[in-house]
Amino acid sequence: MADWTPDSWTTKPTLQQPTYADPQEVERVMAELSRLPPLVTSWEIESLKSQLAEAGEGRRFLLQGGDCAEVFSECESSVIANKLKILLQMSLVLVHGGKRRVIRVGRFAGQYAKPRSDNFETRDGVKLPSYRGDLVNSVGFNAEERVHDPQRMLRGYERASLTLNFIRSLIDGGFADLHHPEYWDVDFVRHSPRAAEYRKIVQAISDSLGFMETLAGRQVGDIDRVDFYASHEGLHLLYEQAQTRKVPRRPGWYNLAAHCPWIGMRTADPGGAHVEYFRGIQNPIGMKVGPAMEPEVLVELLERLNPLDEPGRITLIHRFGNDKIADSLPPLLAAVQRAGRRVVWCCDPMHGNTKKTARGLKTRHFDHILSELEQAFDIHADAGTYLGGIHIELTGDDVTECTGGARGLDDEGLQRSYKTFVDPRLNYEQALELALRVADRMRKMTGAASLEGPVVF
Ligand code: PEP
Ligand code: CO
Repeated sequence: MADWTPDSWTTKPTLQQPTYADPQEVERVMAELSRLPPLVTSWEIESLKSQLAEAGEGRRFLLQGGDCAEVFSECESSVIANKLKILLQMSLVLVHGGKRRVIRVGRFAGQYAKPRSDNFETRDGVKLPSYRGDLVNSVGFNAEERVHDPQRMLRGYERASLTLNFIRSLIDGGFADLHHPEYWDVDFVRHSPRAAEYRKIVQAISDSLGFMETLAGRQVGDIDRVDFYASHEGLHLLYEQAQTRKVPRRPGWYNLAAHCPWIGMRTADPGGAHVEYFRGIQNPIGMKVGPAMEPEVLVELLERLNPLDEPGRITLIHRFGNDKIADSLPPLLAAVQRAGRRVVWCCDPMHGNTKKTARGLKTRHFDHILSELEQAFDIHADAGTYLGGIHIELTGDDVTECTGGARGLDDEGLQRSYKTFVDPRLNYEQALELALRVADRMRKMTGAASLEGPVVF
């Protein structure tokens, strides 16, 4: 790729970037960031890419989930561990329903930059720069906190590293061992209206594991550990550029700040800076696809981002809304099929279903989220394509941000524990319930690829 460099994006129209007051300070930060050791490795990245290639063919299923925006102040053990726990529980349920292995990708360890529709926010006549995520500025509504501060790139990188370090240590220590699902029980699991259903699945898996191990006379497969991959929206291009490296014995450039960065809906422009940056890295990448995407533009994007049609390279994360998916998705599926392009199709049922309550809180209703997912399964089945994954905003904690679910949370109930600074997340119970419903749907689907070998997780 002779005409690409990690900074060639700077020659293209650039959206959603911070404006820093002191260019020399930015340079110093970039120099420091570029020297720090990487967060992930190229072999992990390549391994994820090959697993995603299998998801594109219906042989694996992608579970991508986490916060809309991570915040520096929540880089703490319980928040991280709870997020791992809910992702593990959901993946167990999905393995059981879908009878295929699940790829776990967190929206974590770097999900610190947010696109905003307005550059400014006005409250009571006071106008300040919008909050753009902790990587850029701070959420407090005062002039000092809203300054775009380049030092935050270093703080974000350090926290991403702390987060990954903790996750890797937990996994290496056996936290995700399928022999011990109690390690990843959440305290309030027993209060969940769906607890019994979940326990039945855990029991069934434990029984079959015990049976196989008795037969084999030893532990089967590498069942005591799982892989977790990190992803974030690759929005802040200076930050991404500083992490873009060459590695020994592999050609090309890798973004070593995350395994799988994605392009947000607002920056998926074939002629724009984000597409320019992303086309040059070797990572598997995601791209959000919204209702305004034209089929020809989507095909053009795929040609730019994946000229050799490498399998596993592109995950298209469609996010239309439960009232739009039926119209918006089929023409895009047809265009990609006509173009003969290989992609992983993944449904984000969150971002097209955001509403405001009478009190002005952003929320999403569980039924709308579920409905978009169920329609996605049907539409893909009708088109002969495969829904290879789901992308969910969730937390392992007991927040009240999305309405509905088994507990029937209503608009008033949101007040109890509404914590998000950006988009509303499913809480622990709602996320597990969603996984159970999706697993039911997968169980009913005919022609599902069957599990290969005894290693299920
Ligand atoms: C997000 O994933 O938080 C987000 C901003 O999504 P989108 O680009 O799809 O709007
Ligand atoms: Co969001």
